[in-house]
Amino acid sequence: METLVYKIEDPKNAPRQIAAAAALLKAGEVVAIPTETVYGLAANALDPAAVKKIFEAKGRPQDNPLIVHIAEKEALYEIAAEVPEAALKLADAFWPGPLTVILPKKPCIPDAVSGGLSTVAVRMPSHPTARAIIRAAGVPLAAPSANLSGFPSPTTAGHVLDDMNGRVPMIVDGGPCGFGIESTVITLAGDKPRILRPGAVTPEQIRAAIGETQVDEAVLKPLKEGAAAASPGMKYRHYSPNAAVSVVPGDLKTFVSYVLRHREEADHCLCFEGEEAFLPLPAFTYGRADEPLSQTRRLFDALRELDEAGASRVFARAPVPEGIGLGVCNRLYRAAGFTFLTDPPENQGMILGICGASGAGKSTFCSLLAQKGAVIADADAAAREVMRAGSPVLEALCAAFGADILLPDGSLDRGKLSERAFRDQESTRKLNAVTHPAILRLLVRTAFDAFHAGKTAVIDAPLLFTAGLDRLCDLTAVVTAPEEVRRRRIAARDGLSDAAIDARFKAQRGEAEKAAAADIILRNYPPFTPEKECGRLTDTIEAYKKERNI
Ligand code: TXA
Ligand code: MG
Repeated sequence: METLVYKIEDPKNAPRQIAAAAALLKAGEVVAIPTETVYGLAANALDPAAVKKIFEAKGRPQDNPLIVHIAEKEALYEIAAEVPEAALKLADAFWPGPLTVILPKKPCIPDAVSGGLSTVAVRMPSHPTARAIIRAAGVPLAAPSANLSGFPSPTTAGHVLDDMNGRVPMIVDGGPCGFGIESTVITLAGDKPRILRPGAVTPEQIRAAIGETQVDEAVLKPLKEGAAAASPGMKYRHYSPNAAVSVVPGDLKTFVSYVLRHREEADHCLCFEGEEAFLPLPAFTYGRADEPLSQTRRLFDALRELDEAGASRVFARAPVPEGIGLGVCNRLYRAAGFTFLTDPPENQGMILGICGASGAGKSTFCSLLAQKGAVIADADAAAREVMRAGSPVLEALCAAFGADILLPDGSLDRGKLSERAFRDQESTRKLNAVTHPAILRLLVRTAFDAFHAGKTAVIDAPLLFTAGLDRLCDLTAVVTAPEEVRRRRIAARDGLSDAAIDARFKAQRGEAEKAAAADIILRNYPPFTPEKECGRLTDTIEAYKKERNI
């Protein structure tokens, strides 16, 4: 069968395409349609023969029921045998939108749709193209996610085409899905409202609308052997890429620590944006750590990307399973077949991050800490190491800033690079793009090697907070000194011109603001002495270690 792909940006401007999709649906065919959650594989919900084609196209087990999609709230009464007060409240609060409600079904709903159950799942999507197609078809549409059974749900028409090419006559391309994970499923057919599948509509939001609501155990745990599934979908392998994914629960530091220790046991990571440079393996990202909706939008995409990259074993980062994060964890845990990896806490040291503007005198403090047995992961040393003569980073810098940044012996002329790289924002950005990931990777590795050996590691980095390294630290400190003092120190040490010093200070201004969040402020100017200030620091470190039995 040939699969046509119809692009519809705005259904109002695409009456012919909508009519063509509706005609196929009326004729008992299957059409893949966009929704705000994921793409659906739609057919006339009242026509058992049409519904059967969905199961064939997906390779879906017959006992796994489908969601019926409607375009108006009133259509609920044609499908559900009872419409309790709570259903109306939910519809008012969340429809059209990413919520599916399970209710006792009317006889017009074929067994093929309900998987032989006495209930039916109903949802009114908010995607304008989905609603235009349902309206034009004139019937409710049964639609599961448009992936091959067991694989990650499709969030673009391209994903659908990958799975369904030759299996369905038409795919309607409405662009990438806004939410990216499937709707929240709640049953109102039992004693108490119960969430069977979490999604973008959170348990908290549902409780605010209808009061007490349970969350099914199987949302975050594998179904116990022999236990009946409240939702047949819970039984099956789900969302799985071909790669074997394992979740490393906990915060970023726990994740980085685990991956560094076990880097031989995987070939890829799945993490949040901005974390890639800390990891020793190639990484794919799904959204930002602090933005759950950016995670839902990207999760299934990222799982598919891992497969395309040929990943075979993947360490995955997970959000806290709360709010929308509950939906993210539900999909990710299933994709991982509920495999979790954790390291015992034994033999772990601690990590201190130190920052401070140029000339503040971080290195003085680091030397004092090193005398007391701390291992220093020094950003300057790491920079020199990754930019050593003949290194790939140095080659990339020559390509960006000119081969004459090299001295005759092939090593870097730091003064010349500084001049060029700090002359404007674009140049600084270029420098950072080339050097930062390599420097960060080396710094993090050095620090965690010490941390894993039970030592105190110090990450000495002028851009500690800007680079997000503070999130890997147990404690952070900032070394300060007045600008006049710092200027004098830099002039004496690096022999830079006033203009070059100005440029350097300007580049560090953002960091100075962020560093205000450091746990400890170390004053490196008279009348304070580094020895005394460092004493205060080591007291804090000792107290921290004692509290945690390090
Ligand atoms: O966002 C969504 O809900 C997407 C888009 C296309 O609307 N659809 C979707 O459908 O995710 P599907 O078939 O992939 O997932 C439906 C889930 C399955 O786990 C199924 O077992 C469950 O809902 N379900 C459907 N009817 C049910 C019923 N009567 N009782 C319990 N669970 C039901
Ligand atoms: Mg599905």
